Amino acid sequence: MKLNTISIASIAFLVFSISFTRFHASEAAGFTIDLIHRDSLGSPSLYSVLTPSVRVKNALQRSFNRVNSLRYYDSFKSVSTDVVSNNGEYLMRFSLGTPPVETLAIADTGSDLTWIQCKPCIQCFKQKAPVFDPNRSSTYKPVSCTSNACSSCDSSNNCNYVVVYGDRSYSRGDIAKETLTLGSTVIHNVTIGCGHSNQGTFGGGTSGIIGLGGGKVSLIKQIGSSIQGKFSYCLVPYLNEAQKPSKMNFGDNALVLGVGVVTTPIVSSTPDTFYFLTLEGMTIGNQRLNFYGLSSSYSSDSKSVQEGNIIIDSGTTLTFLPTEFYNQVITAVKRQVKSTQVSDPQGLLNLCYLPTGNVEVPEITVHFKGADVKLKSVNTFVKTSETSLCLAFAPASNLAIYGNLAQMNFLIGYDLEKNTVSFQPTNCSKK
Ligand SMILES: *[C@@H]1O[C@H](CO)[C@@H](O)[C@H](O)[C@H]1NC(C)=O
Ligand SMILES: *[C@@H]1O[C@H](CO)[C@@H](O)[C@H](O)[C@H]1NC(C)=O
Ligand SMILES: *[C@@H]1O[C@H](CO)[C@@H](O)[C@H](O)[C@H]1NC(C)=O
Repeated sequence: MKLNTISIASIAFLVFSISFTRFHASEAAGFTIDLIHRDSLGSPSLYSVLTPSVRVKNALQRSFNRVNSLRYYDSFKSVSTDVVSNNGEYLMRFSLGTPPVETLAIADTGSDLTWIQCKPCIQCFKQKAPVFDPNRSSTYKPVSCTSNACSSCDSSNNCNYVVVYGDRSYSRGDIAKETLTLGSTVIHNVTIGCGHSNQGTFGGGTSGIIGLGGGKVSLIKQIGSSIQGKFSYCLVPYLNEAQKPSKMNFGDNALVLGVGVVTTPIVSSTPDTFYFLTLEGMTIGNQRLNFYGLSSSYSSDSKSVQEGNIIIDSGTTLTFLPTEFYNQVITAVKRQVKSTQVSDPQGLLNLCYLPTGNVEVPEITVHFKGADVKLKSVNTFVKTSETSLCLAFAPASNLAIYGNLAQMNFLIGYDLEKNTVSFQPTNCSKK
């Protein structure tokens, strides 16, 4: 079989090895930090000068790029390398090293390894903060090749890594242990990548990636015991307004309790980077649609829902649904919206209406296993221009992703000890 070189290049893969030591946090069991949308005004990125409709367009376009890189998972399940998604949408401020050097990196629930650009730069993309110099940190410790967990070595006896993203962005460098400070919480001996050769579309505000996925090298897994496997976030709607930062909570601060909380199980699947949930269907206004699974073998006649049939991802803007189910959703929405249909001037979304007067859109409820999540219009429709209000769902083949528009104004809590995700309707601007 001829290898498709485009597909290979489009895949993101990650090769590295690591050894773990137990992590000790210097203080209490809960903390909270800001999540800054990369296009928001609070972000020092180049995008902050963009107009709302250009921001919408960029976010939607990145969403398609990301889904294209996720799509390649299926065919590569058998390969032993890990695959990571394209980079996400939110930035996190943190400090690295001793003395601590503050920087910003993309918070990504779709990848595991945390890495930043490091001196000496063989190749570095432009960043605002000074490039991290491991020689100036007293707590930086390269992981040695002789460490039995290290399988990838360079000539200077350092354990190294390579991460390649869907759009050919990449980072290459050394695996090390370093002290990381989130808010006022100091975490020692975190396994990180110190990238000496980095290239790609990461944006001027960032110095790298913070991996918040479910894989073992993820920051969440590394600090897991001290935060009891719990983190949560509350995303402020960002596309059409100037912003307060969103919040990300860890440990005791991440509990999702009280009125309106619904909870669904996380399903173990491959790759373990992703948080898989089970989607049983959606109700569009007065019409219930059942969803079974990703491939046609799971369509209506089997009548049993495939567990783990959707990924929840804070780094993808749109919600992606397998084409067949997506078409049912479109049909149901069309039947219930009376306004004038228009085409999306940006050509990215399929079902748009002229936003004159009051467009009455149907209420959409997402039925996760054991958890009915009632969405608001901010979760389901997005204004892509002054003249188009579009359904924020898109079709994908053999892939379903619950994107971040659908997650806005919900407090969403992950409990990796109980293996659950909880949703609570919340005005995130007030948090
Ligand atoms: C850091 O120190 C090492 C060993 O002394 C040296 O080879 C390297 O060039 C230094 N890096 C920088 C950025 O100064
Ligand atoms: C970090 O790990 C090193 C060995 O790798 C150990 O000597 C040191 O005590 C650890 N530091 C903390 C604070 O756990
Ligand atoms: C959330 O709270 C903010 C600030 O109080 C307010 O301006 C906004 O309208 C509220 N949003 C919703 C959806 O209630």
